[in-house]
Amino acid sequence: MFGNVFRGKRVFITGHTGFKGSWLCAWLLNLGCEVTGFSCDVPTQPSHFAAMDLGRHIHDLRGDIRNREELCRCVKEAKPDLIFHLAAQALVRQSYADPVTTFESNALGTLNVLEAIRNCPSVAAAVLITSDKCYRNDEQVYGYRENDHLGGHDPYSASKGCAEIIAHSYFTSFFHDGPACATVRAGNVIGGGDWAKDRIVPDCARAWEKGEAVEIRSPKATRPWQLVLEPLSGYLQLAGRLLAPIPSPFCLHGEAYNFGPSAEIIKTVEDVVKELAVHWPGFQSRMQATDPTRKECTLLKLCCDKALAYLNWKATLNFEETIRFTAEWYHRFYRGRKDNESMLDFTLGQIAAYEHIAQARGLSWTA
Ligand SMILES: NC(=O)c1ccc[n+]([C@@H]2O[C@H](COP(=O)([O-])OP(=O)(O)OC[C@H]3O[C@@H](n4cnc5c(N)ncnc54)[C@H](O)[C@@H]3O)[C@@H](O)[C@H]2O)c1
Repeated sequence: MFGNVFRGKRVFITGHTGFKGSWLCAWLLNLGCEVTGFSCDVPTQPSHFAAMDLGRHIHDLRGDIRNREELCRCVKEAKPDLIFHLAAQALVRQSYADPVTTFESNALGTLNVLEAIRNCPSVAAAVLITSDKCYRNDEQVYGYRENDHLGGHDPYSASKGCAEIIAHSYFTSFFHDGPACATVRAGNVIGGGDWAKDRIVPDCARAWEKGEAVEIRSPKATRPWQLVLEPLSGYLQLAGRLLAPIPSPFCLHGEAYNFGPSAEIIKTVEDVVKELAVHWPGFQSRMQATDPTRKECTLLKLCCDKALAYLNWKATLNFEETIRFTAEWYHRFYRGRKDNESMLDFTLGQIAAYEHIAQARGLSWTA
C-alpha cells in the first residue's frame, strides 16, 4: 500500500483522539509508522480513540495547539518526518456558541502548527486538514474547485477559510524549498466511532441504540458524504507523494486538494437516514424545527478532478457500501464482539476490507 513509503516513518498527528485522527492513527500503525498524537482532550464519551485503546499503541500527548511554545516543543521532541494536522473545533453549531475558541483553535492553531513545522528540521512533509466548508458557499450546483473563493458564513467555515489563507502564506513565504506541504479539503465524513454532537450518523446511532426516534434538522441538505477511510486514503496518497524522493511530474507542494465522493454520491441527510435505517430496521426519525438565525448551507459539492489528475486518486465505495461499513462498526461496538476481538482489531479489519475493495477496483494507492 502507498508504495510502502510509510514503513518506519515518524508521524506526528494533531487531533489524534478525534474521529478522523483516531482512524488515521490506526491506519498509520498498520502501515508501520511510529505515531505521536497531540490533542487537548478526548472529545466525546464514548470515543473511537478509547474504544480502540489507542493510547497504548502510540505516543499519546495531551496539549493545546493554541499554546505555540508547548506545541513547538512537542514537535521538536518527536522529530517527525511527517505531520498531519487535524486538531480543530470541528462543529458548526459549537462555532456559534463559542466563535472565539473556534477561531483561536482553527486559524491561530494552524498558524502555530506551521511555526512548529518551520522550527523542526526533521519535518519533510505536512498535510493540513481544513474542510469543504472553507469555500464561500454560493449554493452553486456544480462542485467547488480548489481555486474557488474562500469564505464561510458561520464561524467554523470562516475559521477554516482563514486556516487555508494562513497555510498558503507560509507555503509561499517560508516553505518554497521544503518541507513539502499541502492543504486538504474533504466533505462530510462518516464511519464507525464518531460520537460528535449534531452529526447525523452519531445522532442516529445514539438514538436508535436507546430505542428512540432521531431528530433531523435539515433533511434536504446535500453533503459530500464519504466513509472516513476515503479522504484518509487521499491524505495518505498525497503525503506519500510529498515524501517521495523522486518528485512527482506535477507540483504537489504548496497546493490544495479536494477529496470527495464521486458526483452521484451527493445525497441528502434524509437519504443517509433512510439507508442507515436499513441496518436498524424499525427505527424512526422526526423533523426538528431549524433555527433560521443559524445559517448552514443546504447545497455543498466538491469537484475532485485535481486529486484525480495530480494524484490519480478517486473515491472507492458507493453509497450503500459507505453506509454498510458505518453501520457494521456501530453494531459491533454496541452489540458485542466475536471471541476476544478488540475494537482495534475490528477497525483494522475494516481498513483491510477497504484496502481489498480498493485494490480490486484498481485504485493506484493500493500498489
Ligand atoms: N468529520 C467531518 O465530517 C469533517 C469534515 C471536513 C473537515 N473535517 C476536519 O477534519 C478534522 C478532524 O475532524 P474530526 O471529525 O475528527 O473532529 P473531532 O471533533 O472528532 O476531533 C477534533 C480533535 O481535535 C482536538 N482538538 C480540538 N481543539 C484542540 C486544541 N485547541 N488543541 C489541541 N487539540 C484540539 C480534539 O482533542 C480532537 O482530537 C478537523 O480539522 C475538522 O475540521 C472534518
